[in-house]
Amino acid sequence: MSLSQLLDHTILRNMNLADLAGIVCIERRVHACPWTCGNFTDALNSNYVCKVCEAEGEILGYVVFMPALDEAHLLNIGIAAEYQRKGLGRWLLDATIKIARASNMRRMLLEVRPSNVAALGLYRDVGFLEIGLRRGYYAADIGREDAIVMEYLL
Ligand SMILES: CC(C)(COP(=O)(O)OP(=O)(O)OC[C@H]1O[C@@H](n2cnc3c(N)ncnc32)[C@H](O)[C@@H]1OP(=O)(O)O)[C@@H](O)C(=O)NCCC(=O)NCCS
Repeated sequence: MSLSQLLDHTILRNMNLADLAGIVCIERRVHACPWTCGNFTDALNSNYVCKVCEAEGEILGYVVFMPALDEAHLLNIGIAAEYQRKGLGRWLLDATIKIARASNMRRMLLEVRPSNVAALGLYRDVGFLEIGLRRGYYAADIGREDAIVMEYLL
């Protein structure tokens, strides 16, 4: 199915607690270090911006960002494995940027593992710029892994 056919059926809506079982299943499949149900619950309880994209009742992806004054910290974005590389990640991130901009935020920030080629590719594709490096930020299979800090001016 093409992206435009997929998007004809896709809506973006607020995440809720009833979504978390499905989201955690996707998360475990696509993430090297998946968030737990507790992590998503905390994000919802903290009133972070948590969105789900869904087609005909099936969750295709999700995004979470933390508003902090005029900065939006992108904490998580995921697309279900079978829907990856169809343009949905770019669509979801573009939609997230529009939400942050409409809330008068000035920039979006994120951290990403240098080894996460797909996420790095997506962020660069959308226009995020690399502005720093946090050494040993992430746990890794062996030792620690750095984080690339990226910024998008809204
Ligand atoms: C990162 C992720 C959200 C991308 O979603 P997606 O729907 O597959 O991405 P898109 O199809 O919209 O791709 C947009 C662009 O990103 C880049 N990209 C996406 N996947 C890529 C990959 N596997 N390798 C290299 N570049 C990739 C490309 O530039 C792509 O454009 P193109 O297809 O025209 O070449 C998805 O791979 C994912 O859920 N990964 C696991 C979770 C994760 O790592 N999240 C980010 C850290 S929190």
